[in-house]
Amino acid sequence: MQLSIKFIFKLMVISLLTACGNQETNTAEQSQLLTEVQSVVAPAPLSTPTAIPFAIFPSQTRELASAEVIDRGETVYESLCRACHGGDLRGGDQGGPNLLRSQIVLGDDHGELIGEVIQNGLSNPGMPEMPPLQVSADDRVAVAEYIHSVWANQSGQGGPPSGEEIELDIVVGDASAGEAYFNQQCTGCHSLTGDLQSIASKIPSAENLQNSWVAGRRWGAPNPDADPARRQIRVIVTLSTGEIVNGELGRRDDFLVSLSTDSGQYRSFSLQENAKPQVVDIEINNPMQRHIELLSEINDDIMHNVTAYLVTLK
Ligand code: HEC
Ligand code: HEC
Repeated sequence: MQLSIKFIFKLMVISLLTACGNQETNTAEQSQLLTEVQSVVAPAPLSTPTAIPFAIFPSQTRELASAEVIDRGETVYESLCRACHGGDLRGGDQGGPNLLRSQIVLGDDHGELIGEVIQNGLSNPGMPEMPPLQVSADDRVAVAEYIHSVWANQSGQGGPPSGEEIELDIVVGDASAGEAYFNQQCTGCHSLTGDLQSIASKIPSAENLQNSWVAGRRWGAPNPDADPARRQIRVIVTLSTGEIVNGELGRRDDFLVSLSTDSGQYRSFSLQENAKPQVVDIEINNPMQRHIELLSEINDDIMHNVTAYLVTLK
């Protein structure tokens, strides 16, 4: 029987997953792969990874995404992941593990596993927690493709990337272009004499400053002066009885919407067709919405220009 490269790759993934015993996060993927593999080779044993030459490992066989997608992914990585996973993906200040030794990254094809971690977060016992991040589906795939591209360029598993060093000096933009962009796009919600006064002194590292403005959130040390109410996601629910209930959004899915009212009462409403009372309208207001949109609007130039401007605000 002719073994396809992809199949051999999957076989190796299984051996690794099994060997490393990370069942919690990988059982579904693992059993799906097992089923696929068994349907091809059953009843042959699965434990023969040494028979397969190491040279065909995924970094050599995985088809890389287009340069455009990888660039997009790098932008997302730099702004949202770097603070925790490091500029070279090998772990960062804020507790993220080495992504170049990650079984999840190894087992990921084109973002389906990495995307799930981004969307749902991850909390393995004994590890700091990775919070769920608001990243669009396209950007989740792009950042996964970027991670695979770095992996493909590295010289050995967990070793340094053999390609060019990742740019560490990030203050490379044009500050006056950044100022113009800031005046157009940011002053509706921020002010240089108010919340962003001396922002560069409050966030002295240019890298953290960039992460903070792109994500709309200071990683590590939350802004001690910001009113938490400013970040609150609010919801207004209108019922068929005419009652209007509003408060801080708890949860919204296909089945229900829940909230806490300002007097601290928890309310939840079924969205089933026959629910009584019927929910006739839901209005959600996320103050961070603009920052979520920015993530898919800004390109490298804008990012560098705005950062170059913000670092002048000592
Ligand atoms: C606030 C810090 C933080 C940020 C931001 C963050 N991560 Fe994580 N990440 C973590 C931590 C901590 C873990 C380990 C969680 C665990 O195992 O319980 C983790 C785990 C992961 C894993 C699984 C690694 C493994 O094999 O166990 C992947 C993949 C990952 N992160 C990708 C990303 C990507 C992509 C981004 C950006 C879109 C990102 N992370 C942003 C902290 C972060
Ligand atoms: C529609 C409103 C809105 C717009 C427009 C907006 N932001 Fe924000 N931004 C927020 C909110 C809300 C927060 C979170 C609350 C806070 O930390 O002040 C935030 C947080 C931030 C933070 C973190 C502040 C800190 O002290 O930790 C920075 C920096 C920032 N935004 C920069 C920008 C820049 C630069 C732009 C323009 C490119 C921009 N924002 C556009 C609403 C907005």
